[in-house]
Amino acid sequence: MDKPNESSARIAVHGAGSIGCWVGGCWAAAGLDVTLIGRERVGREIMENGLTLTDSGGARIELRPDEIRFSTRPDDLAGADIVALCVKSTGTEAAAAEIARHAPKATVISFQNGVSNVDLLKDKLPEANVLRGMVPFNVAALGNGRWHKGVAGTLWVEDDPVTRDLAERIGNRPGRLKLSDDMVAVLWGKLLINLNNAVNALSGKTLLEQLEDRNYRRIFAATQIEGLEILKAAGIVPAKTGPISPQLMPHVIGAPNFIFRPLVLKRQKIDANARSSMADDFAAGRPTEIDYLNGEIVKLARKLGRRAPINEEIVNLVRQAEAGVDKMWGAEELRAHLLEGHRAAPGFGY
Ligand SMILES: NC(=O)c1ccc[n+]([C@@H]2O[C@H](COP(=O)([O-])OP(=O)(O)OC[C@H]3O[C@@H](n4cnc5c(N)ncnc54)[C@H](OP(=O)(O)O)[C@@H]3O)[C@@H](O)[C@H]2O)c1
Repeated sequence: MDKPNESSARIAVHGAGSIGCWVGGCWAAAGLDVTLIGRERVGREIMENGLTLTDSGGARIELRPDEIRFSTRPDDLAGADIVALCVKSTGTEAAAAEIARHAPKATVISFQNGVSNVDLLKDKLPEANVLRGMVPFNVAALGNGRWHKGVAGTLWVEDDPVTRDLAERIGNRPGRLKLSDDMVAVLWGKLLINLNNAVNALSGKTLLEQLEDRNYRRIFAATQIEGLEILKAAGIVPAKTGPISPQLMPHVIGAPNFIFRPLVLKRQKIDANARSSMADDFAAGRPTEIDYLNGEIVKLARKLGRRAPINEEIVNLVRQAEAGVDKMWGAEELRAHLLEGHRAAPGFGY
């Protein structure tokens, strides 16, 4: 590993899990001054094995335990110039309280899913420079100190003097940054893709099995169409963050298998065992990020005096699962429940 550059900003990765370990590890390997702040279990794993970071393009970074600074103590946030916030959205409020106590004037970059974490952070951290970030790829924890980035893609962050300097220091290495001056559009673009997380979790199937079934895809497409309508009414134009524009996405996703398979499934190398992180939350009995995914569409609709019934019902079903209702939904059953009982999306023959 390069020696940390003495003049570089001190970075704390708050919430060293899948994203935090991958991003923080890449930045440490690029020679930046990084402290990972996370749980005892993760710290022990790293101290026993070091960090091995791989990606689908064949990149491999290996850091020995003595090349990584890991802490379980929030007071190690003190002195950080930059806090990369990587806790789940359900942990934002608690993390914000810790940052307020130990690094109230830092630049805080939220790398979390959802669109409203930054509003909460700005409210709780009035003296901080709070910026939006977005992670367009998946990172899986493989155990024994190994984290794997399974999809191509570059981290997005809000353009700001601090992130411009950070991007320059990272250069073209893994963990590099793409700057944007319209991160709100970027976050909404990503959220539309993430609307499948709940459908996948409710299906109980792997991502591959679920996406191969057009009935599940029709539900996913319908949540996107509803989301696009609400965004249009709010005057928000979601950005294209993947290979297909947000407006075209539901058409491709809802298309018959002979179109969808070669266009999407064959190109996106989805791991045979992969499931959405919400499916993992169900399995672990943890609260999900549903309020920050489909729930954001429901909230925006209400703000406009409208409703988003399909996303609303998905939020209800996820809530039931969180409360312990152990029901996995077959594709036809879920499609009938969500789309026949509610408003059919126009033009798609749902
Ligand atoms: N994983 C992905 O592929 C992926 C891709 C794109 C975006 N994202 C988004 O990135 C965010 C992070 O996801 P993730 O998958 O990296 O989550 P994760 O693996 O659960 O990592 C978060 C870690 O932070 C810990 N933590 C929570 N609050 C903390 C605190 N106050 N101090 C120290 N540690 C704390 C958590 O411990 P506990 O479990 O004990 O709370 C957990 O170990 C989410 O918003 C997610 O939606 C994830």
